[in-house]
Amino acid sequence: MPYKMGEYYEQVDDYDLEYQSQSEQDLPFWRELLTRYAPERVLELACGSGRIGLDALHVPGTFLLEGLDVDKGMLQAYKRKLASEAEDKRARVTLHEADMCDYDLPNKGTFDLIVLPFNSICHLYELEQQFAAFETTFAHLAPGGRFVVDTFLPDIDYLSNALNRPSNVYMEDEIESPDGDFTMMLYTTRRFDQIEQTQHITWTHEKYFESGENERYLSRLDMHVFFPRELQMLFLASGFSIDAIYGDYQWKPLGKGTRQIVVGRKPMAS
Ligand SMILES: C[S@@+](CC[C@H](N)C(=O)[O-])C[C@H]1O[C@@H](n2cnc3c(N)ncnc32)[C@H](O)[C@@H]1O
Repeated sequence: MPYKMGEYYEQVDDYDLEYQSQSEQDLPFWRELLTRYAPERVLELACGSGRIGLDALHVPGTFLLEGLDVDKGMLQAYKRKLASEAEDKRARVTLHEADMCDYDLPNKGTFDLIVLPFNSICHLYELEQQFAAFETTFAHLAPGGRFVVDTFLPDIDYLSNALNRPSNVYMEDEIESPDGDFTMMLYTTRRFDQIEQTQHITWTHEKYFESGENERYLSRLDMHVFFPRELQMLFLASGFSIDAIYGDYQWKPLGKGTRQIVVGRKPMAS
């Protein structure tokens, strides 16, 4: 079936605004991960508008960073932001417009770290897409290289509330624009399909401008829900060993938080 994805990312500026609080949580984690692994060549899959990549450039080190995303608008926003970085940082970054299920980069086989942060794996809806992405990523890693996937840990109560029917609409966030010209209220409702293991989410973005005007638009997004054993199985079935699994951005063990952050490793000899 055709899944909905693009329209949610069409409002790139609002995307950046809505995920400021996510940045407070996950950017320190990714910085620390880069410090611990000290990679030389990093690839971020589904890099979006550079929320994580641009911050990563400020971690001490000189690793080369590649970013890959299927959405042109997100990549354009990344490039615009990158343009205001210093020349030595800009020179370390290469961006690719490509599908993470089917990519073939010139540096294939040489990345020592590939990351797929912030639920982007949930855009792999079909098993074929999931295997294709994992196998292609395995091929892009150097022997011993790591693949780190970060997604939410499914909450059964939360999902059952939307099982095969739309959940109640609830207010997710209230966000001030940086220059104070509007406040945005974000409402959400979702339906969980347990056979496809997909959440069909609708957001209402309601902007109240200082001028007294208001504006509203809807965006829809489908997200595959990964259960822990399923995600681990994907790693193992694609040739990875599992190095570690963290349960949140503070490095707690799986089950002690709301995330599942899996570190897969390509064997040294393969
Ligand atoms: C939740 S955003 C994450 C962006 C960025 N990593 C961040 O943390 O802000 C998901 C991104 O996945 C991208 N995406 C979805 N499906 C993709 C695919 N098949 N291949 C590459 N990128 C994809 C979207 O265009 C979007 O930029």
